[in-house]
Amino acid sequence: MNILVCFGTRPEAIKMAPICNEFKKNKIPFKLCVTAQHREMLDQVLYFFELEPDYDLNLMQPNQNLNELSSRIIKDVDTVFNSKKFDLILVHGDTTTSAMVALAAFHKGIKVGHIEAGLRTYNKCSPFPEELNRQLTGRIADFHFVPTEKAMNNLLKEGINKQNIIYTGNTVVDALLYTIEKLKKGFSNSRIENLKAKLNFDKNIILVTGHRRESFGEGFANLCDALLKISEKDDVEIVYPVHLNPNVQKTVYYQLSEVRNIHLIQPLDYASFVWLMSRSSLIISDSGGVQEEAPSLKIPVIVTRNETERKEGMNSGFSFLTGTNSNKIIETTLNLLHGKFDFTNKENPYGDGKASIKIVNFIQNNFN
Ligand code: UD1
Ligand code: UDP
Repeated sequence: MNILVCFGTRPEAIKMAPICNEFKKNKIPFKLCVTAQHREMLDQVLYFFELEPDYDLNLMQPNQNLNELSSRIIKDVDTVFNSKKFDLILVHGDTTTSAMVALAAFHKGIKVGHIEAGLRTYNKCSPFPEELNRQLTGRIADFHFVPTEKAMNNLLKEGINKQNIIYTGNTVVDALLYTIEKLKKGFSNSRIENLKAKLNFDKNIILVTGHRRESFGEGFANLCDALLKISEKDDVEIVYPVHLNPNVQKTVYYQLSEVRNIHLIQPLDYASFVWLMSRSSLIISDSGGVQEEAPSLKIPVIVTRNETERKEGMNSGFSFLTGTNSNKIIETTLNLLHGKFDFTNKENPYGDGKASIKIVNFIQNNFN
């Protein structure tokens, strides 16, 4: 049984790392291929989780366009498939890497396992291009590892055979718990120490991230306007690790540089980011992964998107959908900071930290 795990971006790496490490723990051989659709942001994760790729396609180009990236992924992963016979490819989620690797595997007659399957908004433009990527991958996949009941029901409604749907929870919780444990045992690094020195933790720390393509331009400009307004309050410190996508960097650095209590910083390595989330009062983000992590840390998250496929977080009271409407972002932020909310007893709907064990068990029992 030859297994290939393949991913390309930061969030895929964070969520696939627990599976790789579970394979290693059980001495199940596998190969790791990274398309490196992301470079620096991927390498941060590989380093933290001690993962060494067997194949590194090194594909990232500055401000890459989706069609060029897609064609390069298909072409280069084909050479990996030609170098060795693989029986099962594991891909994750909804990136261009996931969809194109799944398609290339299908062309070669290799079975595909889709981790974090079944998420849907059913609006192909939101999030763009992720909704279509995940639907494409879902059509191709032979095995669907779903994080929630809702995701399972989406696939059942689409006619996927129940036997091929495996309910596991989300591996992001596994990654998060592993990291929290390391931090509790005293793990630190220079970025954490710098943040400790720079930030005033007597104030409310508001952590911000954002990178969705559908918000480039006006959406990001509105978010920045909202952050400027919020920064007028004396009791807040805003920390924003800015995504390396040039379309994000351009707007954010133009509008928010040199504001006293807005700290624009480089993307953080995973341990530092988890540490910072755990010290924050509130997160403002359009990230999929962050929407899943916030409930594990019992922190509210304002979701700067018009739609989310992670409705479980809204239903359990952690996520608040504002889109990129400045007034809504400001109002919801101030309400959450100054209202009386208790997030400590709310349930995390995304898993119990054992998803990677369930995924690896399934593969072991069904393929060996
Ligand atoms: C990608 C995924 C998105 C995922 C996000 C996670 C697609 C189409 N998009 O979006 O689904 O949610 O990653 O962050 O699959 N860059 C760097 N260094 C890096 C990473 C990115 O410089 O380590 C810059 C490059 O200029 C690159 C650009 O960002 O061309 C865009 O990267 P890309 O992966 O195409 O899109 P993201 O917006 O990062
Ligand atoms: N993250 C990180 N450093 C940062 C910002 C985010 O390690 O500076 C982590 C975060 O904890 C989450 C993941 O990256 O696990 C989310 O990635 P991103 O928002 O880029 O992608 P998405 O989840 O939206 O696909």
